[in-house]
Amino acid sequence: MLSLRITAVLKALLLLTTAATSTPFHPKRQDTNSTQCRKTQVLVLGGGTLANASLTDFVIIEYNNDLGGRVAHTTFGKQPNSSEPYVIELGANWVQGIENAETGAVNPIWLLAQKYGLNNTYSNYSSIETFTQDGPADYADLIDDVEDGWTVMEQNVGEFITQNIQDYSVRSGFSLGGWKPGKDAERQAVEWWTWDWEYAWQPEVSSAQFGVVNYNTTFYQWSDENNFVWDSRGFNTIVKGEAAEFLENCTADYNCSGDSRLMLNTIVTNISWSDEGVIALNEDGSCVEADFAIMTFSLGVLQNEVVTFDPELPDWKLRSIYTFQMGTYTKIFLQFPPDEVFWDTDTQEGILPVFQSLDGPGFLEGSGILFVTVVQDQSYTVEAQNSTVTQEEVMAVLRSMYGDDIPEPTDVLYPSWSLEPWTFGSYSNWPAGTSLEGHQNLRSNLGRLYFAGEATSQEYYGFLHGAWYEGQAAAETIIACLNGTSTDCPGYARYEVLTGTTPPDMYNETNGWMVTSFQGYPPDE
Ligand SMILES: *[C@@H]1O[C@H](CO)[C@@H](O)[C@H](O)[C@H]1NC(C)=O
Ligand SMILES: *[C@@H]1O[C@H](CO)[C@@H](O)[C@H](O)[C@H]1NC(C)=O
Ligand SMILES: *[C@@H]1O[C@H](CO)[C@@H](O)[C@H](O)[C@H]1NC(C)=O
Ligand SMILES: *[C@@H]1O[C@H](CO)[C@@H](O)[C@H](O)[C@H]1NC(C)=O
Ligand SMILES: *[C@@H]1O[C@H](CO)[C@@H](O)[C@H](O)[C@H]1NC(C)=O
Ligand SMILES: *[C@@H]1O[C@H](CO)[C@@H](O)[C@H](O)[C@H]1NC(C)=O
Ligand SMILES: *[C@@H]1O[C@H](CO)[C@@H](O)[C@H](O)[C@H]1NC(C)=O
Ligand SMILES: *[C@@H]1O[C@H](CO)[C@@H](O)[C@H](O)[C@H]1NC(C)=O
Ligand SMILES: *[C@@H]1O[C@H](CO)[C@@H](O)[C@H](O)[C@H]1NC(C)=O
Ligand SMILES: *[C@@H]1O[C@H](CO)[C@@H](O)[C@H](O)[C@H]1NC(C)=O
Ligand SMILES: *[C@@H]1O[C@H](CO)[C@@H](O)[C@H](O)[C@H]1NC(C)=O
Ligand SMILES: *[C@@H]1O[C@H](CO)[C@@H](O)[C@H](O)[C@H]1NC(C)=O
Repeated sequence: MLSLRITAVLKALLLLTTAATSTPFHPKRQDTNSTQCRKTQVLVLGGGTLANASLTDFVIIEYNNDLGGRVAHTTFGKQPNSSEPYVIELGANWVQGIENAETGAVNPIWLLAQKYGLNNTYSNYSSIETFTQDGPADYADLIDDVEDGWTVMEQNVGEFITQNIQDYSVRSGFSLGGWKPGKDAERQAVEWWTWDWEYAWQPEVSSAQFGVVNYNTTFYQWSDENNFVWDSRGFNTIVKGEAAEFLENCTADYNCSGDSRLMLNTIVTNISWSDEGVIALNEDGSCVEADFAIMTFSLGVLQNEVVTFDPELPDWKLRSIYTFQMGTYTKIFLQFPPDEVFWDTDTQEGILPVFQSLDGPGFLEGSGILFVTVVQDQSYTVEAQNSTVTQEEVMAVLRSMYGDDIPEPTDVLYPSWSLEPWTFGSYSNWPAGTSLEGHQNLRSNLGRLYFAGEATSQEYYGFLHGAWYEGQAAAETIIACLNGTSTDCPGYARYEVLTGTTPPDMYNETNGWMVTSFQGYPPDE
């Protein structure tokens, strides 16, 4: 039997939408005094998103100065013998699931990474060194035990789908699968590595059924590889490069700020929606009125009510917004003097929490850079506190691992995703006991306002490729309406009454189920 590989799930927002021919279909404008609003056919709210064909009448509103959303990078530290810094990814960092050699199925993000020649390297999660508070201690064999528990859980929850059985938590699934970490610190560390580190929420509150679906459809459909992107242009090159194919006046490095349809640095405050159109009001007083809109705001933004909707969101939509969870995943980067590196740079990870070296071959070799990841409550604490305090805390852990003779870092940096007003977290998670229909309501449109982004993906929620597919689905739906190919333009399925059960035949495209979750294990390497 092939063992389950543990992988880091890093996630973010990317949206690429297909667009087709613009047509004579001109819907009635909304009955609002919007005479001074800029008019367009399709409005895209949140600019990871984009089209590739001949739809020319669109406007993109983006909060930040650049496209890519949670695919964002910054400069950090200093390269040896140079005044140049390194470039590090604050958000999405891996291509997750690559290509299935047997079936030929391939992750669309992998195709884009290749198209733009992004520097990336396979993250070898077998290459692991484990520690306790007293220093090195080899307990990596416990990973086999949690994997055994997972294997039982993944089969059990497969039956939930085929037999309409109620979902339970990953904690239940693990326990029933024979994995019970109890209060044992080493077992808890291994469990954290397996679950929390990927999903950014605890097993107690996470869905076993949909967590396994999320895993199967990515790592069994394509492959169990995670490739770390370390490209000085940034991971968002794939978003910007695709955008440059349909925007005008772009520079060679895909800066398309010269296209008047791209409204960067623009904060949306109010959205009015109806069956006739959508109007977005912005903080700077500008407004855009559109026949259709795709909104890719994060679940965190929706939960924090930073945008006012008119009319107010209906109960079925609010219920889904407050039911699903927004997780936070924080990478804390530290640079040490490269000639005083004290860890084994060939070994990618330690445990409790997980440290990953960027100073190994195939990464930023010679950089002296290490990063440690925290999620959820630890993220909230770290992100809200002074980085000097965080540095002291991380150094205390490193000293317990490597002794007191290690140098101080020359630079420390981390994002504060949970506090960013344009995202309020990193990526979404599916709580225990919530049905397919409940999540479909997060996807479903309100009149001509359509929703997309990683959080709306039934199967790939949390992943970059989930955002990609959802953007494409929303765009195709809208284009069909514009094209007049779908005269009544029915929109997405929605469920105003949730019964908590899902007959097996509902796991289909109508409900955003794009591929079977019974994928079989990936081929052996
Ligand atoms: C671009 O559009 C074509 C059809 O118009 C579609 O087949 C293709 O998948 C689209 N590419 C992307 C990256 O969206
Ligand atoms: C609409 O707004 C314009 C410009 O602010 C104003 O002159 C006009 O009276 C308004 N019309 C209505 C019906 O409120
Ligand atoms: C894109 O170009 C504009 C105009 O030169 C500049 O102001 C902006 O900072 C550039 N954006 C990025 C992300 O470099
Ligand atoms: C940096 O310069 C020092 C002294 O000139 C040299 O010994 C070292 O090899 C250089 N390091 C790199 C990475 O080039
Ligand atoms: C991953 O690391 C393990 C343990 O160090 C090693 O045996 C294996 O060859 C590595 N795999 C790859 C693809 O580098
Ligand atoms: C990609 O990696 C190569 C080394 O393998 C390096 O020379 C090049 O500068 C990197 N390119 C980018 C854009 O990061
Ligand atoms: C591209 O730049 C030209 C020259 O500044 C301008 O006239 C044109 O409107 C721009 N195109 C778009 C789509 O903004
Ligand atoms: C926009 O939303 C704010 C609340 O955030 C509200 O006070 C204001 O009236 C709204 N503006 C319009 C034009 O609806
Ligand atoms: C963080 O703490 C350091 C040292 O205590 C202090 O110098 C700095 O001003 C603090 N920064 C903030 C933003 O409070
Ligand atoms: C839109 O209409 C054009 C022309 O009839 C057709 O080629 C294209 O495939 C249609 N696109 C969609 C998304 O239906
Ligand atoms: C999906 O299943 C529902 C419920 O059985 C059905 O109404 C719908 O037509 C199906 N959709 C597709 C695309 O087969
Ligand atoms: C996940 O994949 C495994 C292996 O193919 C399968 O046994 C299990 O039933 C699947 N689970 C779900 C929820 O699809």
